Amino acid sequence: MSSKILIIGACGQIGTELTTKLREIHGVDNVVASDINTRNLDLVNAGPFVILDAKNFNAIKDCCINNNIDTIYLMAALLSATGEKYPMEAWDLNMNSLFHVLNLAKGGQIKKVFWPSSIAVFGPTTPKENTPQHTICEPTTVYGITKQVGERWCEYYHNKYGVDVRSIRYPGIISHKAMPGGGTTDYAVEIYHEAIKEGKYESFLSKNTNLPMMFMDDAIKATTTIMAAPSEKINIRSSYNLSAISFTPQEIAESIKAEMPNFKISYKPDFRQAIADSWPSSIDDSEARNDWNWSHDFNLRNMTSEMLIQLKKKYKY
Ligand code: SER
Repeated sequence: MSSKILIIGACGQIGTELTTKLREIHGVDNVVASDINTRNLDLVNAGPFVILDAKNFNAIKDCCINNNIDTIYLMAALLSATGEKYPMEAWDLNMNSLFHVLNLAKGGQIKKVFWPSSIAVFGPTTPKENTPQHTICEPTTVYGITKQVGERWCEYYHNKYGVDVRSIRYPGIISHKAMPGGGTTDYAVEIYHEAIKEGKYESFLSKNTNLPMMFMDDAIKATTTIMAAPSEKINIRSSYNLSAISFTPQEIAESIKAEMPNFKISYKPDFRQAIADSWPSSIDDSEARNDWNWSHDFNLRNMTSEMLIQLKKKYKY
């Protein structure tokens, strides 16, 4: 029997594309999309959709009962930059939504949970290059703290209550459909939009800030692959390191210039620079590669080509 899935936070950057992919795999009617509002009308009209507040346990529970849900993807979160502006809101949303879902799974109603963690669990004391799976995690952002604590709770609920929760530490995700909101890695999406619209971009990170990144297709592939893997292959129940590419603002600008020679970049670092400086430059994800055969497909060059092709269509250039 196909699973009946609920996606919480389906209108966000990842949720939008995850919903489409899961509907391809499981059938449109088996994937209920939900979000706090109807900001993405294409998604709202594409299949079953409910307005759902991720902080409301009873609302999530009722939605699961009414729709016979057995699997939840919890994609709602306040990201790193927004979290620094609204620390208590970030804590409230990121932690309570996770507890609600884990507690539903503990009750047996939900059989499988996906919850994303992030490179933000790492901090300035973490080894920066090829960051290992098990290492010092002393995050300095509220977002990072919520993800680190969330990882501990996921592992706890798995060990103590047998909850089948699976998680990956996403790097910065680059995509052309829904915009990211409030992250430190958002520059790597904005730069493509501005390249097409204005021919130039002012980066809020300095030119040599090297961060782990990934094209959306790879992020979706990782998410569906870990969720399809047999339970006994998932040896890490906190969250898996996940890696594809690393680059700096200067390097992404060079890759755009290779296709748009007149593109210009300038740099004006703001408060997000300190967040970026606290994160690793590259990630060792060998456990994900060994345990559930993770591999990425996109490098910087073919990601740039694809982003520019898609955004030219979007903006009709
Ligand atoms: N992309 C996220 C952020 O920048 C990291 O998980 O906040």
